[in-house]
Amino acid sequence: MISPDQLRSKYLDFFKAKGHAVISGKSLLPENDPTVLFTTAGMHPLVPYLLGEPHPAGSRLVDYQKCVRTGDIDEVGDPSHLTCFEMLGNWSLGDYFKRESIAYSWEFLTSEQWLALDPAKLSVTVFAGDQNAPRDDESAARWRELGVPEDRVAYLPASDNWWAAGPTGPCGPDTEIFYWTGPGLPPAGSNKGTDSANWMEIWNNVFMEYNRVDEHTLVKLPMQNVDTGMGLERTIAVLNGAASVYLTDSFKPILDAIGTVAGVTYGSDPARDTSMRIVADHVRSATMILGDQRGPSPGNVGAGYVLRRLIRRAVRHGRKLGIEQAFLGTPAAVVVDLLSGAYPELKDNRTRIMDELAREEAKFLETLQKGEHEFEKMLPNLLKNPQKVMSGRLAFKLYDTYGFPIELTLELAAENGLSVNRDEFDDAFRKHQELSRAGAEQTFKGGLADQSEAATAYHTATHLLHKALRMVLGDHVAQKGSNITTERLRFDFSHPAPMTPEEIKRVEDIVNEQIKRDLPVTMRMMPLEEAKATGAMALFGEKYEAVVKVYSVGDFSMEVCGGPHVERTGSMGRFVIQKEQSSSAGVRRIRAVLER
Ligand code: ALA
Repeated sequence: MISPDQLRSKYLDFFKAKGHAVISGKSLLPENDPTVLFTTAGMHPLVPYLLGEPHPAGSRLVDYQKCVRTGDIDEVGDPSHLTCFEMLGNWSLGDYFKRESIAYSWEFLTSEQWLALDPAKLSVTVFAGDQNAPRDDESAARWRELGVPEDRVAYLPASDNWWAAGPTGPCGPDTEIFYWTGPGLPPAGSNKGTDSANWMEIWNNVFMEYNRVDEHTLVKLPMQNVDTGMGLERTIAVLNGAASVYLTDSFKPILDAIGTVAGVTYGSDPARDTSMRIVADHVRSATMILGDQRGPSPGNVGAGYVLRRLIRRAVRHGRKLGIEQAFLGTPAAVVVDLLSGAYPELKDNRTRIMDELAREEAKFLETLQKGEHEFEKMLPNLLKNPQKVMSGRLAFKLYDTYGFPIELTLELAAENGLSVNRDEFDDAFRKHQELSRAGAEQTFKGGLADQSEAATAYHTATHLLHKALRMVLGDHVAQKGSNITTERLRFDFSHPAPMTPEEIKRVEDIVNEQIKRDLPVTMRMMPLEEAKATGAMALFGEKYEAVVKVYSVGDFSMEVCGGPHVERTGSMGRFVIQKEQSSSAGVRRIRAVLER
């Protein structure tokens, strides 16, 4: 038996012995990278160093990193995919390359002194080659040299063996290591290419010698890097002979806690098991996100929205297990106990985790109760329908008026022997979206009349200025007026005194910092109430539509507005405040320009 804590230590010790500096993993919420919501791999915080910046700890690094991948939350629930997992990683920044990297991995996995896995149960894949890079014969030869038989090496295309964290950035061919999960020993000739289902990936060694600049341009990096990632939960399963990550010490205590609340046991019924896995995975992820150094609150945009979906999906599957009351705090407490040794921030943030979970759970339970109550009121009439079909229009009403998820309407209907006209629901849903979009576009307050490029940039600059003023002067700052031409912006706001030169400078600096960060500007439609609840800035004295557009500038500002805005802030130019003066009693006026 080996525990997660022991595996982390072994990994760090092994690579320390090979001259690697132990660095600490980073927040789940990437700093300075508005293109992704979460840290998805150990290499993520290391991107600048993989691109050539020297790392203060040297050219050989090792760590463990918490990661979140929520590509499609709705797919989670099988025995091996997790939305939050730990990655053990080691890096060479222009130091060693394929030969050493592969030898290190093989030694750590198979040596008696380290993990002592049976080499007969391991197989590997290498890059088959394409127009971007040649077939990786060097890695294949190295595996053979270490004793991996030819028939355990599969040559696979870029879809399998080319790794990149995103559409741009450092990337390269990889060689991946798999463990046999089928019965007995793998038959001769079996590898990932011939029998995908029985081989589980446990480690990936990426040879990052390229940088993708854009869709069409791949350039060689000035140095050859190695980026590896080993899945901690999967490796623990393999080392302990468990058929699934859920049957290891990383998850059993969480499943037990859920089982106790629900009065069910894991392993007794496939549908219930799926729900138990979903609750366990989602509570674990939500706890890690809420307990992060930079943890967001549940909300309607960005990481907060993912968090909200995780919590709500956990609640829904809790109900499938027969749990009617709020319960997420119970398994969450187990998660904090399991992981706070490796992630002390969980202990520090325990109260916040519990409070936020309880609040979001209560809010969602209330939504569910209201929706169910409305459904019950509809039921006598529905049952009179000879075809036993609930119209999509009614299902949509439940969604639109009470926020009741369509999945639950489908479930309630099925329980009462009814089906739902799903096509009609989807139609209504689409029409509603189109209507509110069109409505918003026509009647929006604050929509920009002049939609030229220059005026648009000033419009985005106005949002940045508004937020920066609040940061520097305080939350009493409220927009009193705004006027934009292609030459300048003018912004009136409530503030009792003239701004000092230092305050003006700080506001300019903050705005320019956001421009430099090249933040993406995104728009989401949402009910006005939701916009208020998420803290979007707005002129709440004004009359808005029921559904409003909310523009977010990266993680910096969020404002109810008609648009349009620039796509990214990077090319707006330099922001300069030219004048700050009185406009009327208690109202100041700023005139500012963007210098190209
Ligand atoms: N960055 C590589 C991965 O996530 C190691 O698989």
